[in-house]
Amino acid sequence: MRKSDFPIQAPRGFKDILPDDQKYWQFVFDVARDKCQGFGLLKIDLPLVEYRDIFSRSIGQTSDIVEKEMFLVSRASIDAPDPEEDISRPMVLRPEGTAGVIRAYLERGMETWPQPVKLYYWGPMFRADRPQKGRFRQFWQFGIEIINADDAYTDALTILFSWQFFQALGLQKGIILELNTIGCANCRPKIHKKLVSYYETYQSVLCDDCQRRLITNPLRVIDCKNEKCQKLARGAPQIIDQICPECNQHFKSVLDYLDDLAIPYELNPQLVRGLDYYTRTIFEVRDTKDTSRQNSLGGGGRYDNLVPLLGGKKTPAIGVSFGIERIIAKIKEENIEIIEKGYGQILISQLGEKAKRKALSLMMQLTDAGYKTGIVFGKEGLKSQLKAADKMAVKIVLIIGQKEVQEKTILVRDMEEGNQEIIEEKELFAFLKKKLGS
Ligand code: HAM
Repeated sequence: MRKSDFPIQAPRGFKDILPDDQKYWQFVFDVARDKCQGFGLLKIDLPLVEYRDIFSRSIGQTSDIVEKEMFLVSRASIDAPDPEEDISRPMVLRPEGTAGVIRAYLERGMETWPQPVKLYYWGPMFRADRPQKGRFRQFWQFGIEIINADDAYTDALTILFSWQFFQALGLQKGIILELNTIGCANCRPKIHKKLVSYYETYQSVLCDDCQRRLITNPLRVIDCKNEKCQKLARGAPQIIDQICPECNQHFKSVLDYLDDLAIPYELNPQLVRGLDYYTRTIFEVRDTKDTSRQNSLGGGGRYDNLVPLLGGKKTPAIGVSFGIERIIAKIKEENIEIIEKGYGQILISQLGEKAKRKALSLMMQLTDAGYKTGIVFGKEGLKSQLKAADKMAVKIVLIIGQKEVQEKTILVRDMEEGNQEIIEEKELFAFLKKKLGS
């Protein structure tokens, strides 16, 4: 086998999250979880694989995601297929979380739980799109879904949640919240008709994709990123003028709540979102500094017809999800300082063979006493061991060298205060109790 036949690399669009980046991921997760707990949301973990029809029935057969961006999971290697498994039902890597949450809502009897059911999730999603800056084939989302709530108050709460999430991350200055309504199922035929009659006049100007979308999904023509299509979209009939009085009132109430809360937002009549399950309120949080197509840090909206689409009864719902890689890129760009959470309270640093044995027994005693204690593995010198301790944000380093072993002492360095002192080995526990508590 020639070396060049198999370059050692991750598949295109797939990334590693290296140790140096973990503090950002931990920070965003901690903020997300704290916010969710504050809003009474419960965590759900879903399988990475679902049946393809869960997505084609919800996101839409003609959406970009379902048409061309799903990774099919092959079961070809199963030698003896399980006779109870219907292998004619294709499985895919999940491209998003909402449809899976609704599948679980229906399958796990959540209709009998106290309503609305409020869930959150965190995990990788997969889309076989063309990778570029800010667009990956595996990317992580944090999302929330509020199932079985139809009022404008819930829309406002979901948007407030999103706003507060960015505030807690320290990112509220560089972002903008865009809002629109796309009406309900009853409004849709009127909206489509208006759009088709407008665009038909300019059909030859539209890009190839939009010529097709005009037949399959006219709403999507409005948010096409092609320059010519965008120019046309600016003169297109506005969706808000075509919606029914109930949808109009609903949207007005959402805006009233947001005005009361003084949440800044911009109405964007061209916002339609790329997933077909949406109804009424939709919104997106964008990075104002980034002018690329990948500037959406999060997006969501109401999806009142999704539960019936997957076989349940009428259950209005709303949700939002956020792209973690994009948020972390923004945190770095804004130079937001992340303090790494301490690995432990104490780190034992040893120099020399005898010190190693002492360090191991000390580690056992301290761990037994309930102290979060770490130990240095390698053969590094004191300087690099202290540097590691600093990075690990430990409070106290216990340094043991040949001299300390002989004299039954320990050199204790307080990493927060930056000073050090020698103590008797037998005084260690009393000393730690004073410094760290028992
Ligand atoms: P989405 O707009 O497709 O919505 O994705 C939400 C966020 O995920 C985007 O705003 C972006 O930050 C991130 N994202 C999407 N695709 C990629 C990619 N290829 N690479 C990196 N980041 C990406 C949904 O997924 C809906 N499920 C949101 C929702 C929840 N609606 C109701 N509930």
